[in-house]
Parts: sequence; structure tokens; C-alpha cells
Amino acid sequence: MLTKPEGAILDLDIAVPRHYVTHENLAIARGVEPEKYHAGLGCWEMSVCGPGEDVVTLAAGAAWRLLQRHPHLREKIGLCVVGTESGVDGAKPTAIYVHQLVNLPSTCRVFEIKHACYGATAALQMAQAWACMRPDRYALVIAADVARYKRYSSGEPTQGAGAVAMLVGQAQDQPVCLTLSDVSGTHAEEVYDFWRPNYQAAALVKGKFSVECYLKSLLAAHDDFYRQMGKSASLDAMDYALYHVPFPHMARKAHVHLLSHKGIVQEEEALADYQRRVKLSLWANRRVGNIYSASLYLALAGLWEREADTWSKKQVSLFSYGSGSCSEYFTACGGTRRPAFHLKTLLDQRVEVDVATYEALSDHALLMEQNDSIHSETIRGMVPFVFVGIRDHERTYEQQTVAEKEPVTVVAAPAGMGIHRELAPLAALGSSFCDR
Ligand code: CAA
Repeated sequence: MLTKPEGAILDLDIAVPRHYVTHENLAIARGVEPEKYHAGLGCWEMSVCGPGEDVVTLAAGAAWRLLQRHPHLREKIGLCVVGTESGVDGAKPTAIYVHQLVNLPSTCRVFEIKHACYGATAALQMAQAWACMRPDRYALVIAADVARYKRYSSGEPTQGAGAVAMLVGQAQDQPVCLTLSDVSGTHAEEVYDFWRPNYQAAALVKGKFSVECYLKSLLAAHDDFYRQMGKSASLDAMDYALYHVPFPHMARKAHVHLLSHKGIVQEEEALADYQRRVKLSLWANRRVGNIYSASLYLALAGLWEREADTWSKKQVSLFSYGSGSCSEYFTACGGTRRPAFHLKTLLDQRVEVDVATYEALSDHALLMEQNDSIHSETIRGMVPFVFVGIRDHERTYEQQTVAEKEPVTVVAAPAGMGIHRELAPLAALGSSFCDR
């Protein structure tokens, strides 16, 4: 009997910028009680892009790290899609830079998908269907974003930057991270909750309204999913529930809202359920911030790394929300592959900067986007690609050597920018996850 091919995320990897600022320091600088950011939003550290780092270097960096582990599959990649709302050009896709930087075959379909934070999920669903029709071919789906809000705005503490690259293929006969369900619930509605006009670097947002839109979409997409699945399926069967994470407490709000929709209205019961099925996935998001399209997949990476020993056969629900809006609710099943990206170590290797330096780094990075010139003062990132500037309206990327399995040791900050602490030696790094 022929079995229907199942699509899977075979493996994934992550890239983050070199620097981060703590929410404690940001709160103090903005005259806000740190508890608002910690207890109120669930945020502790926020990744900051500096000069030389952009959505392309992050996307290519995540893909490069992933392909280092699967060099024999590179020639079999026939689809490369980047889901992002931080594209660097109105026409030329981020994915074609990635294609060149990580040396993918010329027989590859390459494009970018945009729908706010939903883009990468659209890409993943498309890649899954594509892979199911092509045994022995693979898709590279990359979620990558740089979240920018106006300085001093209420959105400022919910910024971040990073990328998650996923290798998608058929699940048969190989260890996988997650086998994806072929049913998904969707919801679309035109709203102005969060958007970024072409003439702005920073997003515009109606904060409270965006939270309402997210919650409304969650129920609609969830109900659509279970309508298709029939009466036998239930949220209770899920071991873990993953959400789009613009800030970690949004995932808590979402889960509690969904439970209340299912009739669980006792706060104590709902919070215990959140602790059991959601909280474990949020530790990396607390340390990176909002990475829009990649936030859901960063939560997946964090959960997988943390629960690696018991991951196989675990049932996981995923909710993706993109402002504007489109959302999708789907489920997946844990496979037997073990994660090999060492996310906690990657985050521990970053460098903390103070608030003045975060502002200077962001300004310098934005300046590079607006000037037609090549810059020598770029930061050597955590990945082997650096954006060196624009000449004759063409972006230029250079490749650097990054020693494998060694922490990156060079930190060349632009003149006058204070770096708080140098890289910690690996042995000195703690092993606990950020469970605050
Ligand atoms: N101690 C403890 N908690 C405190 C506190 C203190 N001193 N002060 C405030 N808080 C709590 C508040 O009670 C509140 O908790 P609840 O949400 O549980 O009520 C929380 O901290 C936040 O406080 P405010 O609501 O007063 O915060 P705010 O109005 O300044 O902004 C925000 C919050 C609207 C999320 C804002 O950060 C924002 O606009 N962010 C960007 C938009 C966003 O992330 N939207 C999410 C849905 S849209 C989406 O998901 C797409 C996307 O990625 C953007």
C-alpha cells in the first residue's frame, strides 16, 4: 500500500546579532520600572543589529550554520524562501543574497515572502507541499527579521533581531525535528494594527489593538483547524503549545485566552496549564526579543533544545500571527533527531552593551542603509557574512572566516562605542535556561 508522504522540518539553526542590551538598563534609561518589562512583558534581553549586520547576514548566517551540518544535502536544495518583513530592497529578494552567500545550486527556486510575522509560516506551508511531491529534494525556509520601533515608544522594549533557518523535506526514513500536519486552520482580515510604510524604517503600531487582533485571530484559526479535524481531535492531546512571540507574555495571554474559549476560566488552572505547555518554549525569546517572522520558530528551537531527551512523539501545536492580518494554527509531531545548534551557548557568547551603545549601533546600522558608500567600520558578527555598504545602489556583502566550534573572538566596534564585556570563555557559561 502506498503511504502518503509527510512533510517535516528535518533540522534548523539560528543566527543572532553580536550585541544585546538588557531590559533592566533600557527601563532605567527610559524612566520605566524594570518590572514592567520583566514581569509585565516577560522580556530580559534584546538583540541589537550593528553596522555590518542586517536581515541578509542573519538569514545567510542561520542557513550557513544549518548547512554546515548537512553539506551533502546542499546540492539537493531546490527551493530557498525567506519569510521577512525587513527586506532590504523593493524588488530584489533577501533570498537571492542568501542563495549566493551559502552557495546553493543554480537550479533552485528563490524568492521572498512578506506578510508581517506570518511570512515564514506561509513559506513553510508552501515548502512542505513542495517537498511532499519531490522525494530526495529539500527546501530551505528562512525566517529572518530586524524589529524596529521608534525610540522611546511603548514598542521599543519589544524590538529584537535574528533568523531561524529550517531544512524541509519528506519525513520518511530519516531523523526529523518535527513532522508537520497537513491540516491547518487559517484566518485573514484586513486591519491596521501594525504596519511599516515604505518611507519608514520603524514600524507603526496600535499596541493594544494589535493584541486584540492577535487574540481574535487565534480563536478563529484554532476553530477553523478543529472544524476540519472533527470531534475526535482536541487541544488536550497537545503536549506543548507554541505561539508567535512578539513579547513572551503575549504567549501567556494567548494560551489563557484559548483555554478560556475552551471553558477553562479558573486563573489558577489556566496558569498551571501555561507553565506545563507553553512557558518551557519562551526562554530564548526572553533573551532575543521580537524577531517577527522568526519568533515562533525561535520558540520551537528553544523548546526542542530544552526537551531534547523526551522530544520524540510529542504533540505540538503552532500558532502564527502576522499583523494586517493573516494567521495559521497547525500541529506537528516530534521526531527522533537531536538538536545540535547549541542555542544557549550561542546566546551566552553575545556581548552586552549599554543603552547609549545600543542607540549608537542602531543609528550606525541605519546610516549604512541610507548612504551610497562602503564602510570600513563594521562589526564582525556571529556569522561569516558582513554587509559592508552600498556602492552605485548595489549592496555589498563580504565573507569572513569564522572558526568552527570556537567562539568568535574579534569585536571591532566603531570608534567611541563602549563594549560592556568581552566574550566569556565557554567553560564559564552557566547551563540553566532563562526561566524568569
Ligand atoms: N510591574 C509589573 N507589571 C507591570 C508594571 C509594573 N511596574 N507596569 C505595567 N505592567 C504590566 C501591565 O499591567 C501590562 O500587563 P497586562 O498586559 O497583563 O495587562 C504589561 O505590563 C504591559 O503594560 P502596558 O499595557 O501598560 O504597556 P504599554 O501600553 O506600554 O505597551 C505593548 C505594551 C502594547 C505590548 C507595547 O509594547 C507594543 O505596542 N508593542 C508592539 C506591538 C506588539 O507587540 N503587539 C503584539 C500583538 S501584534 C503581533 O504579534 C505582531 C508583531 O510581532 C508586532
